[in-house]
Amino acid sequence: MRIVKILLVSVILAGGAAAARAGYSPDFDGGIDVRVAIRAALESAASAGGLVPDVPGRPAPEHPVWVSLEKSEIGALDEALFKGLPVAQNKRIAIYEFDDSELGRLADGMRRSFRRAPGFHAYATLEAALEDLKEPPAVPQRAYTVDQAQRVKALLAQVKEEPIADLITTLSAYRNRGYRSATGVDASKWLQQRWARFAEGRPYISVAPFKHASFSQESVIVTMLGSREPEKVVVIGGHLDCVAGYGDRPAPGADDNASGVAATHEVLRALTEGGYRPAKTIKFIAFAAEEAGLLGSGEIAAAFRRDGVNVEGMLNLDMVNYKGSQGDIYFVTDHTSAGQNAFLGGLIDAYLGYAWGEFKCGYGCSDHASWTKNGYPASTPFETLFKEHNPFIHTANDTLANSGGNASHAFKFARLGVAYAVELAK
Ligand code: BES
Ligand code: ZN
Repeated sequence: MRIVKILLVSVILAGGAAAARAGYSPDFDGGIDVRVAIRAALESAASAGGLVPDVPGRPAPEHPVWVSLEKSEIGALDEALFKGLPVAQNKRIAIYEFDDSELGRLADGMRRSFRRAPGFHAYATLEAALEDLKEPPAVPQRAYTVDQAQRVKALLAQVKEEPIADLITTLSAYRNRGYRSATGVDASKWLQQRWARFAEGRPYISVAPFKHASFSQESVIVTMLGSREPEKVVVIGGHLDCVAGYGDRPAPGADDNASGVAATHEVLRALTEGGYRPAKTIKFIAFAAEEAGLLGSGEIAAAFRRDGVNVEGMLNLDMVNYKGSQGDIYFVTDHTSAGQNAFLGGLIDAYLGYAWGEFKCGYGCSDHASWTKNGYPASTPFETLFKEHNPFIHTANDTLANSGGNASHAFKFARLGVAYAVELAK
């Protein structure tokens, strides 16, 4: 890889005409065809047979990770982090190779430099990061219907607040759930066992870890196999990891995002204990490593696309238990599906009667972005307007006590999740 990098730079300088050949969109016409460039670089490295010196000033990363960033935002960040050259770039986006241990500094710098964190997206392989230079696949539009009133109402009656509060309490009691910390691994193992209880005596439910290439915290996937069209999949989930600064600091992550995992848990619990079996398959996922640039969901959504999994919709629950001064549920409008957001708004109107609205994050702020990027309709119903969001996130004070001490707000999102599951997986 070190050899490739240097040669790649010379290939990049040599031309951008390959972009047209590879069918890149006009928006990216200043870009380069990185695949062609890499292949050429590999070939000439092999024929040269010798070692090429590394980029000066940067030791080879022990745990390499590839990060894609908006070029316009790099200037505001810690220069020392960008000693090397970008591995690849187009007009708008540059890909850098970092050591995993540098991600904390990068994220921290971003939070300090921008009023809104711009977010960066990280990948365990260069190949996966290069996908960000291409235009993402279009998200298909579909028709939505709301016609399962009897079933929805019966299952909504199963949703309770207490199990949500219990799960938030258990998860936030881990010292932290950092994707590289030992307690972050423990929390994932615990959740696998907790969710395995739903599979007991139900042969159509199974639980499996999703193991990630570059870190040890596993994502957790519960599969509720559909009875009629099992190849069609609905995904409901949220991120399990949390963060407070960087390093092994205490991070309860009660709202960001034990709350979303707990709401997901309650959807799963209410549906199974309510004796429900969907026609389509539902996957409940607790994502590892969201705080590291959507690493976990990025790997999972890309694997689903590679395997041709037909995901009909994805509901991302991230920060659902801190109530703002007004309204109940706010949909993130960017990097999400407008059609699915409208469907969810319609579900609230039909079954729940909550006040809802919308806002724009301004960047791919949570795991929905990974699904959108892979061509799947995704939505994030959020706890408040962006400007009123929980001020304690990413600190040692993100506790249940600081979200009102109960799960009454998250309860609304679990109910929305139940309505969504029943009306989409029918
Ligand atoms: N839950 C947050 C995202 C969020 C925060 C959305 C506040 C709306 C309001 C998420 O866990 C997070 O921290 N995201 C990162 C970006 C991500 C790409 C690493 C962020 O916002 O800095
Ligand atoms: Zn966060």
